[in-house]
Amino acid sequence: GSGRFTYDPGFVSTAACESKITYIDGGAGVLLHGGYPIEQLAEHSDYLEVCYLLLNGELPTPEEKDKFVNIVKNHTMVHEQMNHFFNGFRRDAHPMAIMVACVGALSAFYHDSLDIDNAHHREVCAYRLVAKMPTIAAMCYKYSIGQPFQYPRNDLSYAENFLHMMFGTPCAEYKPSPVLAKAMDKIFLLHADHEQNASTSTVRLAGSSGANPFACIASGIAALWGPAHGGANEAVLTMLEEIGDESKIEEFVARAKDPNDSFRLMGFGHRVYRNFDPRAKVMKKTCDEVLHELGIDDDPLLKIAKRLEQIALEDEYFVQRKLYPNVDFYSGIILKAIGIPTTMFTVIFALSRTIGWISHWNEFHSSPNKIGRPRQLYTGPSKRDYPE
Ligand code: SDX
Repeated sequence: GSGRFTYDPGFVSTAACESKITYIDGGAGVLLHGGYPIEQLAEHSDYLEVCYLLLNGELPTPEEKDKFVNIVKNHTMVHEQMNHFFNGFRRDAHPMAIMVACVGALSAFYHDSLDIDNAHHREVCAYRLVAKMPTIAAMCYKYSIGQPFQYPRNDLSYAENFLHMMFGTPCAEYKPSPVLAKAMDKIFLLHADHEQNASTSTVRLAGSSGANPFACIASGIAALWGPAHGGANEAVLTMLEEIGDESKIEEFVARAKDPNDSFRLMGFGHRVYRNFDPRAKVMKKTCDEVLHELGIDDDPLLKIAKRLEQIALEDEYFVQRKLYPNVDFYSGIILKAIGIPTTMFTVIFALSRTIGWISHWNEFHSSPNKIGRPRQLYTGPSKRDYPE
């Protein structure tokens, strides 16, 4: 025959696929974390509370939340040796390349004493990663602009601390504006987890071999980097800047529809959603709020984005294919308004998604499991003999 072997789905062990963490209904545009709709969490919760929910399956009591916040606060510093990793990179190295290296290297700091079959050890890994990702991310930015690393501060909230490490200097007191800190926390919250997307599946598969969790998270960062996935938020801003003016939108929409042109409308479409990505709706509202509070309602990029969205939502090509704005469409505009450089957008996504990755890794190791082993549909040549 064609040499195709039968495809036995049984090989994909169910443990690799089953999860209680997040539910998505792509047709209805629904996203639930532990059963709670993302819209309600965005309205009433905050990033660290959602981290607790993703890791434990329940919202924390006020006491549990205080304890969790304090544990995270007390693990935000990285080992001083980490500072030396940066010197091997050029100043203009893409920060995602540095993140993959530094987070992977954490496995060298926390390796020997780690028993991944011990639930408490797994929990400590999760705390450490949630605590240290903002510090490493901010170090990437500081290194790129030749400014000294800022140590974390325990008197600030998670988002305020990140902004302080990004924009503070030894020369003057830096107090992040409540508006920007709130918007930053919401960006973290909206990107926290999204079921078994490309990067989360990568982390689960790497974790299924028993690999060190910090190395597994580094594999998730690598997978997220691609422009079809987490790299899209950076690609959206580049696209909006390339469009440059509302008069050129039609030209770019035509290119996105042209089967012979590889250009796609960044920030549109999704592997699962065939409806609005519920995170995009919250992001759009946050975008309006932040730009209004900053007094830049007439941001030219936001105007292009809104006009582009309107055109795409009316265009037969997009309507027929159920292509809607996704989580990345508006996030870049908010990040730019906060003052985050474009090259750091996907780093922010990785920072936010770390809790999703490590929660899925933890879930996988919380019950009896087997190494993941996806099978294939073989389309190569049938068996044949070596020529005489
Ligand atoms: C994220 O999986 C997750 O959950 C990911 C994520 C998360 O939180 O982890 O939600 C984060 O990655 C969001 C997606 C960010 N990526 C982008 O915004 C990049 C632009 N989007 C596309 O590259 C694309 O939409 C994908 C990669 C997201 C999905 O690609 P698919 O699976 O090929 O989309 P599809 O099968 O639904 O496409 C159907 C049709 C195809 O055309 P036809 O072959 O039918 O003619 O729609 C076309 C596609 O070519 N299409 C687009 C398009 N997206 C799909 N055409 C123009 N512009 C686009 N953006």
